[in-house]
Amino acid sequence: MSKILVTGGCGFIGSHTIVDLVENGFEVISVDNNSRSNESILNGIEKIVHKKIKNYKVDLCNYDETYAIFQENTDIAGIIHFAAYKAVGESVEKPLMYYENNLTSLINIVKCAKEFGVNNFVFSSSCTVYGNPDTALVTELTPQKKAESPYGATKQMGEQIVTDVSSNTFTSILLRYFNPVGAHPSNQIGELPVGKPQNLVPAITQTAIGKLPQMKVWGNDYDTKDGSCVRDYIHVSDIAHAHTLALHYLLNKKNKTNCDIFNLGTGNGYTVLEVINTFEKVAGQKLNYIIGPRRSGDVVAIYANNEKAKNELGWNPKYSLEDMMYTAWNWEKKCAIE
Ligand code: WQD
Repeated sequence: MSKILVTGGCGFIGSHTIVDLVENGFEVISVDNNSRSNESILNGIEKIVHKKIKNYKVDLCNYDETYAIFQENTDIAGIIHFAAYKAVGESVEKPLMYYENNLTSLINIVKCAKEFGVNNFVFSSSCTVYGNPDTALVTELTPQKKAESPYGATKQMGEQIVTDVSSNTFTSILLRYFNPVGAHPSNQIGELPVGKPQNLVPAITQTAIGKLPQMKVWGNDYDTKDGSCVRDYIHVSDIAHAHTLALHYLLNKKNKTNCDIFNLGTGNGYTVLEVINTFEKVAGQKLNYIIGPRRSGDVVAIYANNEKAKNELGWNPKYSLEDMMYTAWNWEKKCAIE
């Protein structure tokens, strides 16, 4: 049973990925300092997979403490690196904090991986590396524009670092998520945004449950079908399964290059208003929102050409937008009563 080290394992995508890895026969350990997550999510994981997951509460910016994890676990076969700050707006206010945290943690985990001969590395990247693309439908070869935020810049720099340190012995994969949303169908784990949610779907569900009085649609005067921005929303469990497939791909030496890149999106673009309408249909209630001004840094429209992940990883996203809204709403209702 191959042991996988998941950094950021208590986070939204990290926790769902741990579930999928364990369900597919991997042994997993987590590293998460819980600065932006809650260790209680491990209880939810345990209820699904009926196994305790060990989390090392370590800040990956501390090289010595990170190194000690590898000394204690000399049988790690692969690493999935999620741990990073990811709030676009916050990164604009505190760029240095983002560059220091996201890049130092990446450099430390890669240094340890190489030191201990852990030669399979999956990097959590994002469609934000494309910036504002000339065409809304992007492939992995679409030229990257200037990142719209320091957060996006850390993902572009992170991809460059991983690319440059990869070789025919240290092989890696860059997974570019589009917009991960929803919650595990068991309703035992889901998204736990820290503070006021910046992202669309938690803003919708928190408004619907009454935690927020009203939400704003940031602009409806864009050149899109209804004036609001277009994104490729993808269920977090579909994203999670892509990581399991990516590890099999590396462990079985299927990689075509030292650092293969994959878009993880459904290939469908939905506007903000379409997402809200779908939520209202699924929840059976109207959402209290108004149209606000455009949000700086927003990309007008972007969605994935996902053929490469389908053909090379054998990945087939299965959740619909309705499923995403249904599971996100279920999770919000559960969090409200706990
Ligand atoms: C989506 C659309 C908003 C909130 C970012 C990062 C990406 C990933 C996800 C980390 C936009 C609109 C939102 C609200 C709104 N981050 N919106 N009212 O900006 O596409 O992606 O978060 O994994 O890397 O770039 O996601 O959900 O913030 O916004 O109208 O209250 O919803 O303007 O058009 P985004 P988002």
